[in-house]
Amino acid sequence: MPELAHRVTEAADLVTVALDELLPRAEGPEARLTEAMRYAALGPGKRLRPFFAIETGKMFDLDERPVLRAACAVECVHAYSLVHDDLPAMDDDDTRRGRPTVHVAYDEATAILAGDALQAAAFEILAHPDTHKDGNVRSEMLLRLAQASGARGMCGGQMIDLLGVRDDLGAVARMQRLKTGALIAVSFELPLIMAHAGEGERHALMGFAQDLGLAYQIVDDLLDHDGEDAVLGKKAGKDAAKGKTNYVTLLGAEAARERLNLLIEQTKAHLDPLGPRAEFLRASVDFVLERRN
Ligand code: IPE
Ligand code: IPE
Ligand code: MG
Ligand code: MG
Ligand code: MG
Repeated sequence: MPELAHRVTEAADLVTVALDELLPRAEGPEARLTEAMRYAALGPGKRLRPFFAIETGKMFDLDERPVLRAACAVECVHAYSLVHDDLPAMDDDDTRRGRPTVHVAYDEATAILAGDALQAAAFEILAHPDTHKDGNVRSEMLLRLAQASGARGMCGGQMIDLLGVRDDLGAVARMQRLKTGALIAVSFELPLIMAHAGEGERHALMGFAQDLGLAYQIVDDLLDHDGEDAVLGKKAGKDAAKGKTNYVTLLGAEAARERLNLLIEQTKAHLDPLGPRAEFLRASVDFVLERRN
């Protein structure tokens, strides 16, 4: 769907401009920190989480600006998670988004602080009254973003990833849902909260988002297995080298791809109750599947 590619690019551009406005300028004695934050967040990411938030906002006819702010908040948490994920103490990666990782371009202490401050920036953006006039709505969004980011969300999943899981597909799926699925799911959930969406819609979209999050990480693991560094913008082949447990290292690429195809059908089926208004989300599943970076 060519229109979809256009919408993804359009959303990515909007987010980059908005993040540029929202993040602190690189000024003052702490400029090294703010510069590193901007380097991490404004780099050429795909901005798929913000895209999901923006598309969900459109489905519910929400004003663009508040949804964009919520989308930026999620992207800040994501950018922070990548800065820390790349640190020597974690995946020890030198390249991200086709450029040196933050600890390589700056240094480890700066990268740790840039991640910390990006996380704080996410909550600052979301908590600001410009994001929503109703404090109850803001507070529910803050709660959900905190849960998705913390010990029972992204950070918890990263812990399990580092410890390694035994040869147990169920445990791998849980790890993936936590480390990647939770932030993807909250990208859909924040606009649903703003829209006061009904139980049925919320249930359908959250089921969709959770499966999509798992699928997203399986695609990432397949790309690590057979992608090329130059296209990926990050080093391939790291998961096997580091002894990581995921669908691909556990089952092999072919069986992982079969599981992924099944999961994709299941993911799309969640959208059935939403009818034609979910057309773009349905198409975005294939877009995510076919991505090359
Ligand atoms: C990479 O995320 C890490 C995962 C959680 C799979 P993305 O593939 O969304 O990375 P960017 O934001 O486009 O760089
Ligand atoms: C990262 O997963 C998930 C995060 C929460 C950051 P990976 O470690 O597989 O992500 P890449 O491959 O480095 O982008
Ligand atoms: Mg990792
Ligand atoms: Mg990594
Ligand atoms: Mg990976």
